[in-house]
Amino acid sequence: MTDALARALVRTKNAGMNSHRLAARIGAVLWLLLAWVPAAQADEAAVTRGRYLATVANCVSCHTRPGGVAFAGGLPFVTDFGTLHSTNITSDPTAGIGRWSLEQFTRAMREGVDDEGQHLYPAFPYTAFTKLSDRDIADLYIFLKTIPASKQAAPPNVMKFPFDRRELLSVWKRMFFSSQRFVARADRSAEWNRGAYLVEGPAHCGACHTPRNLLGAEKASAAFAGGTHYDAVPGGAVRRWSAVNLTNSSSGLKAWRVEDIVGYLKTGHGERAGSFGPMNEVIVNSTSQMTDADLRAMAVYLKSLGAVDIGGAVELSGRARGAGETLYTIHCGTCHLPTGLGSTPGQDLGPPLAGSAVAQAPDPASLINIILYGSQVVRPTPPKAWKNMKPLYDALDDEQVAAVANYVRSSFGNRAGEVTAADVERQRSDD
Ligand code: HEC
Ligand code: HEC
Ligand code: HEC
Repeated sequence: MTDALARALVRTKNAGMNSHRLAARIGAVLWLLLAWVPAAQADEAAVTRGRYLATVANCVSCHTRPGGVAFAGGLPFVTDFGTLHSTNITSDPTAGIGRWSLEQFTRAMREGVDDEGQHLYPAFPYTAFTKLSDRDIADLYIFLKTIPASKQAAPPNVMKFPFDRRELLSVWKRMFFSSQRFVARADRSAEWNRGAYLVEGPAHCGACHTPRNLLGAEKASAAFAGGTHYDAVPGGAVRRWSAVNLTNSSSGLKAWRVEDIVGYLKTGHGERAGSFGPMNEVIVNSTSQMTDADLRAMAVYLKSLGAVDIGGAVELSGRARGAGETLYTIHCGTCHLPTGLGSTPGQDLGPPLAGSAVAQAPDPASLINIILYGSQVVRPTPPKAWKNMKPLYDALDDEQVAAVANYVRSSFGNRAGEVTAADVERQRSDD
């Protein structure tokens, strides 16, 4: 700006302007200077809002490969249809999205279409991001412009025929997708509406917690009733996980109070549970950095979801129950107690399994994982006295893991479908 002022003065001198016009010129420059200050502040505020939204949406977890540059993409997504990679969304003009206009970015977020008009795969959760408001998208766009450019390119996708043909996604979209903004409900509180917007929109909880159909689309009729999620494990393999039922079913979050949900999303642990799988990353990179008001809003919304139950109920013979109970007593009861009620506060040995959403998840993958691999815990703030669960991978065979899992799924008031030895075998051998 001082440069501009100097240039304006020099030019006026050269042109031999009269003092009146000189004053006008200086006035115009001063006006520019004053207008520029609030504009810069507005930009700064938009960057801050955009950064917060990117945190809520956890763009960084999906758009960063292990050891790679943040937001430069390349993280593999293993799906039933092949493997694709997240893209570079840094401000680099060629490798990233530095040249994209706000309109192009908006179209990607809301319609899943890139700058060249090609359809994007729904591993990019535009099915949720489509709900974002104009302002939130504009703020995100301004924030993304501040990310340092990186030339890192994503490895080529390896999609199976015919899913390598992006044109086919137009058919998929016609069947399963509608580009629609969030519509607030007048009969609900502002807090509920904020929570609904966050959960269904930017935070895209349903991307993992809603079951999908054979073509990979979220089943709207079973929203948040528990889904399956694949996550990379060190070494490049991929492990199957179940994201639990978040509705108010007794196999979901019925036993959780609003404060339990807030505390868990803030710190990764609480009286009801501690994170041990893919939720670690959601909590560390995203929810732990959200405001208490937003966490509360999300919890209020989740607690309002009517119970939806898509799991079955295993019926154990007396013998199978006895075998499961013996294994439970030896390997689990010390921390989770014979009653399954978990240790008393102060003792802090383990959370309750009675009413546990992980124990009763429709897909038993996470329950099997915690038994085989123990709990891998990354917590923003360390818990009280909890000890990590030790892996029982070598101590128990497939039949035994299934037996103890079925015992947990049908005791203490729990109700969930059967776990077979084949389910356990599948969890042992990561893809
Ligand atoms: C659950 C994982 C996931 C999350 C969260 C996610 N993305 Fe993506 N994103 C992807 C994948 C995978 C692709 C590649 C899709 C494809 O190739 O069809 C992608 C593609 C994109 C594209 C298209 C880029 C291009 O060059 O074509 C943009 C833009 C984008 N993401 C922005 C964002 C922003 C901004 C956020 C956070 C608000 C975000 N993404 C969050 C997985 C994710
Ligand atoms: C990347 C997939 C993914 C996303 C996104 C995700 N979750 Fe989860 N969530 C999981 C998995 C897997 C589990 C099982 C436990 C674990 O991983 O620690 C889980 C467990 C939970 C639990 C239950 C904890 C327990 O042990 O009983 C709650 C509550 C929860 N998630 C809430 C949310 C909310 C709210 C959101 C959106 C802000 C969300 N999750 C987003 C995958 C995800
Ligand atoms: C040393 C104590 C200890 C033992 C033994 C133990 N657990 Fe755990 N368990 C925990 C702790 C602590 C957690 C919370 C996750 C964490 O922070 O590690 C947990 C979490 C769980 C969860 C997830 C609960 C939820 O809703 O989030 C399940 C399911 C579970 N344990 C089952 C078992 C089973 C089955 C056994 C026996 C095969 C077992 N545990 C043995 C301490 C233990």
